[in-house]
Amino acid sequence: MIAFILNQKKVITDTKSGENLLQFIRAQAHLKGTKVGCREGDCGACTVLVGSLQANGSVAYQSVTSCLASLASVAGKHVVTIEGLNLDKQLNKAQQSLHDHFATQCGFCTPGFVVSLTGFTLQHKPQHHALDAISGNICRCTGYKSIERAAQQLEAEMGADTHDLAWLVTQGYIPEYFQSIPERLHALPPSLTTPESKLVSGGTDLYVREADALADLDITYFEGNKEMLFQKHQVVLGGGVTVSQLWNSAEMNALFPNLKQYLKWVSSLPIRNRATLAGNLVNASPIGDMSVFLLALDAQLTIKSVETTRIVALKDFFLDYKKMDLLADETIDRISFEVPEPAFSFNFEKVSKRTHLDIASVNSAASIVVKDDLIHQMHLAIGGVAAIPKYLHATIAFLQNKPLQADVLKEAETILQSEIAPIDDIRGSASYKRLLAKQLFWAHFINLFPDRFSMADLMH
Ligand SMILES: Cc1cc2nc3c(=O)[nH]c(=O)nc-3n(C[C@H](O)[C@H](O)[C@H](O)COP(=O)(O)OP(=O)(O)OC[C@H]3O[C@@H](n4cnc5c(N)ncnc54)[C@H](O)[C@@H]3O)c2cc1C
Ligand code: FES
Ligand code: FES
Repeated sequence: MIAFILNQKKVITDTKSGENLLQFIRAQAHLKGTKVGCREGDCGACTVLVGSLQANGSVAYQSVTSCLASLASVAGKHVVTIEGLNLDKQLNKAQQSLHDHFATQCGFCTPGFVVSLTGFTLQHKPQHHALDAISGNICRCTGYKSIERAAQQLEAEMGADTHDLAWLVTQGYIPEYFQSIPERLHALPPSLTTPESKLVSGGTDLYVREADALADLDITYFEGNKEMLFQKHQVVLGGGVTVSQLWNSAEMNALFPNLKQYLKWVSSLPIRNRATLAGNLVNASPIGDMSVFLLALDAQLTIKSVETTRIVALKDFFLDYKKMDLLADETIDRISFEVPEPAFSFNFEKVSKRTHLDIASVNSAASIVVKDDLIHQMHLAIGGVAAIPKYLHATIAFLQNKPLQADVLKEAETILQSEIAPIDDIRGSASYKRLLAKQLFWAHFINLFPDRFSMADLMH
């Protein structure tokens, strides 16, 4: 039995907890405003808001692609579809801004845009941008400019302040009933399920591949460890930490000043809201962005079962294509990495067919500590050029204690090429990926040490 609130209505259902939320919304709740597009998290037509009770009693809302969300993941939460955003007698502010800018044609994508933009207003902070909020919404008709103008209007109206729920209601951003939701969520009965199958976290990998099979099962929904601990020389991230948690973390942004730029290349906001670090590692895609990112930090995994706890270096975790050092009853509890002194310089690069909302042809990350003009410590990882996300052991060993010079890097790049084995596939030919591997290797040094290296070094 799963209990949640759908718009204004309490739902208590015996539907299998693996059923996807989109199917439930349309087929069982008969709310047809949430559209079925790609069913792969790509188009945003199915976007809903999911509100979770916070420790301070408030409800925090996130945009989620309902085609990839399990029913189990909304137990005890507030699910808001486009129908739940309508005001009585007027358009809400997100609807009004799209109307003002003629930002809809066939209208198929419009509910998703309204939901995402309302999500932006609900979690508005001065450094948030409305365009980021619609990074997961695709429109085939308008050409986007009118939608962008509508989003910018909404952002301007929100101003630089943060706003509480009461203000959002009185200003016409959301309906009044939102104010009763925290109390109503508290009063929900606990959801009871008997998990019988797969462990699902964010579901953004599993539901793309197995949504139909999961729909017939009670899944093990695993929120995982969401803690983030920042010590002087070590960072510990729970396996259930999402990419959005990293994005919003002041400590992570201080440690990685270009973090938001890197994470913008990782899927879209609704996917980042759900995608966990452990899910990215266990998905074991050779081009997993967070896998490559964490390999370049020489991360360690704390792997747990009911009876055991063991530590595995991430560079030893990936064994072969989609094979890992992880037993069926084990989960990744924590991911930790050292923060050396003096601090490392870090860079992440990704080349994909589309700049946004696309997986990489080749991606790479590097962390480097230079002392007395020598490469004191370096970790380098690359994705898309081997069966696993690749930690470049031989290249790193060669660079250790070498001077930071172009001729050294040229030799290192030859070693890098001997360590990789790209194949031809839809993301590019093997020779193209070798070229990208070379360019991304140099891009790390050109970006991190612009006074020493330039494109000219790469060309020769
Ligand atoms: C539209 C779209 C765009 C995407 N773009 C990108 C992208 O740009 N870059 C990228 O790298 N990925 C991308 N992905 C892939 C996906 O979002 C990530 O791999 C994500 O991190 C998976 O995490 P999850 O929590 O959703 O995993 P889930 O789907 O819940 O699980 C994935 C696997 O991990 C296992 N698992 C989950 N948590 C644990 C745990 N704690 N311990 C042990 N096993 C666990 C599950 O059993 C399952 O086998 C995209 C996906 C979609 C749908
Ligand atoms: S239907 Fe396309 S993102 Fe869900
Ligand atoms: S208005 Fe037709 S898909 Fe956006």
